[in-house]
Amino acid sequence: MVAPGFSSSLCFTLSMLLHLSCAYRVTPFKGVDIENPAVDVTPYPLAGVPGSKDVISCERVQVSGYSRLKLGSYANSFRVTLAPSVAIPERLHSKIQVCFHRNASLALCQCEKDEWKAIQKGGVWSSVMSPYEERYIDVKFVGRVSGSVSVAVEEDFQRWRLLFLGAGFILLLLAPIVSNWVPFYYSSLMAIGVFLLITILLFQGMKLLPTGRQECLVSYYKWISVLVNSILVNFGLSEEMHNPVSVFLLVGIVLTGAALGYWIVRKFVISKDGTVDVGVAQFVKRAMRIIATTSIFQSTLDAPLALGACVSCCTVCFLITSSKWLGSGLNSFSVVSSYKKDVWSEKKKKKEEEEEFLRLKR
Ligand SMILES: *[C@@H]1O[C@H](CO)[C@@H](O)[C@H](O)[C@H]1NC(C)=O
Repeated sequence: MVAPGFSSSLCFTLSMLLHLSCAYRVTPFKGVDIENPAVDVTPYPLAGVPGSKDVISCERVQVSGYSRLKLGSYANSFRVTLAPSVAIPERLHSKIQVCFHRNASLALCQCEKDEWKAIQKGGVWSSVMSPYEERYIDVKFVGRVSGSVSVAVEEDFQRWRLLFLGAGFILLLLAPIVSNWVPFYYSSLMAIGVFLLITILLFQGMKLLPTGRQECLVSYYKWISVLVNSILVNFGLSEEMHNPVSVFLLVGIVLTGAALGYWIVRKFVISKDGTVDVGVAQFVKRAMRIIATTSIFQSTLDAPLALGACVSCCTVCFLITSSKWLGSGLNSFSVVSSYKKDVWSEKKKKKEEEEEFLRLKR
């Protein structure tokens, strides 16, 4: 037999549990999504918030995104805005605080202190989120503020983000080829050399001239003019030579920069057999892959989808590079470099033979 005391206590426990689960059940908050893009909510006073004398009113709005199967919004973002109604005077706007978070199990208005953002006077709070996420906006009134706030969500079309995806994929695909391709090093290092030289001269020119730093290009041009003029005067030439001399000076600067790049390639990138140094090629390949991955991650605001895009791009690149069609292309590429190697070693052998021959003759 079950003791009556036990069963009643069991009943009591059960009812307590039910009660507790009711108390902790997430009350259905108002929600916004793209079909229902705006909602007005009125925060209600919370009873007994420990450690504060002020009345605190709270409310939560749920922002729901698309399902991740709807890939059409891959590059887009959701802009969420919160604006106080006109019934709330502007001087009270600083008492409205907003917390934008992901944690559904967080009790109402229990965000950390530094997660609360006050809205500016007369302004609107706004933030950006992934269009596939589910987020919560907790809005809090500190003190005696009453009135409603309106929350709205709109989709921002950011097609330009797809360029990042394309660029990342192409970089990933080309990394193993380009990193072994000698002209790539010549062209890019020459360009970097020209850029560096012009930047250095620009800063030198800015230091010499007392004019404002904002007009750096203008002051640079002035500096060059002053320099050219003084040179012309020193050599006793007329001022009409000014423009051609400036042009030649510019060409000289560009050529010097290119020469700098060329020298760096000869000195550090190309190994003795005329191919790209193995260490350099390895480093550049990895650097390109890192840049490609970063680029792919910039193509969407949604982290899981970005990870998916990255993994699929890597897989496709791997399949392409290991397939026979491109594999033969790569092989012919390495055949060329090994052919170069052979030529070089043959030349070396011939030279040695000649030296041997000369020594024997003597
Ligand atoms: C969500 O909030 C609950 C309650 O405060 C906390 O225990 C939990 O760690 C939070 N989860 C995350 C992922 O922050």
